[in-house]
Amino acid sequence: MSESKPTRKRRVFSGMQPTGEAHLGNYLGALRRWVQMQDEFECLWCIVDDHAITGGGDPKELPKKIVDLAVSFLAVGLDPAKGILFVQSDVPEHTELAWLFNAVTPVGELERMTQYKDKSAKYESVPVGLLNYPVLQAADILLYKADAVPVGEDQRQHLELTREIARKWNAVYGDLFPEPEAIIGNEGRILGLDGDAKMSKSLGNTVDILAEPDEVWARVRTAVTDPQRVRRSDPGRPAVCNVYSLHRHFSAPGVVEDVAAQCRGATRGCVDCKRILADSISATFAPMRERAAELRAHPERIRHILEDGAARARVLARETITVVRERMGLDWRSAWTR
Ligand code: TRP
Repeated sequence: MSESKPTRKRRVFSGMQPTGEAHLGNYLGALRRWVQMQDEFECLWCIVDDHAITGGGDPKELPKKIVDLAVSFLAVGLDPAKGILFVQSDVPEHTELAWLFNAVTPVGELERMTQYKDKSAKYESVPVGLLNYPVLQAADILLYKADAVPVGEDQRQHLELTREIARKWNAVYGDLFPEPEAIIGNEGRILGLDGDAKMSKSLGNTVDILAEPDEVWARVRTAVTDPQRVRRSDPGRPAVCNVYSLHRHFSAPGVVEDVAAQCRGATRGCVDCKRILADSISATFAPMRERAAELRAHPERIRHILEDGAARARVLARETITVVRERMGLDWRSAWTR
């Protein structure tokens, strides 16, 4: 583990794919924690659009998805005065470093990644970007010599690989990169409304945090509850019901107790229970909806924040990439001076 110098705060980097406005899973699994980390760490929060292109998707929609995610970041309280918020492709050193890391990354390690195995199974002809995805992720993190990376459990393997790339590069070209520590949250997997798979835009099982109350209700009413509770008179099992687990995140403690008791006792039906949940969710995010609306009315602010973030990130990125290029012999002008 890397020792941070006492003179500087530990540096944290994390990224999120631009799939549009953040949803409850993004919020509970990542954003909420990121906001809490802002005072303790020196933070970089990145919208990873270069990663997003490996998943296909319509290029015409990507710019809006990036801006929607930026609005979500700002609405939940990520603060450009405390940390750096930026878009990955605005700092081309990310892709440059990823290319340079290709020199020390074993293909076998990339082929072992479970996320790669899952995703590549869906293709007839697998794009190399899918295989290379974790190399770019390692570049994101190491470019800033981040000490720690808050990620979900599903990213643990990519972080291990990042550490390995750091070790391998250091061994060949001389010590430069710290081995970043993964900070894995304790909230576990946030399930989607299907109660079955991780909440994810591509599965259509999400609730957007900035959705208007009627939209939240339209989404929440589709949620799957305890499958054994067929009739309203059947007692339910909160422990296996995803609507209940969402209550625990968004409803007041007294409400959580009530809905559990009324579910077990079959004194309240699932539809009513979901209605209470939808209200709790809408209330939780009301201030953030307000902040988002305010921002959207001033697009120039969003633009300024992202451009300023990229400029600040780039200063740090240039420092690293300059040393990397030198160590790897890519400074041909030194032929006359070395
Ligand atoms: N792969 C991450 C995810 O899908 C996103 C990501 C890209 C990331 N680069 C990163 C996360 C660097 C942490 C650090 O969630």
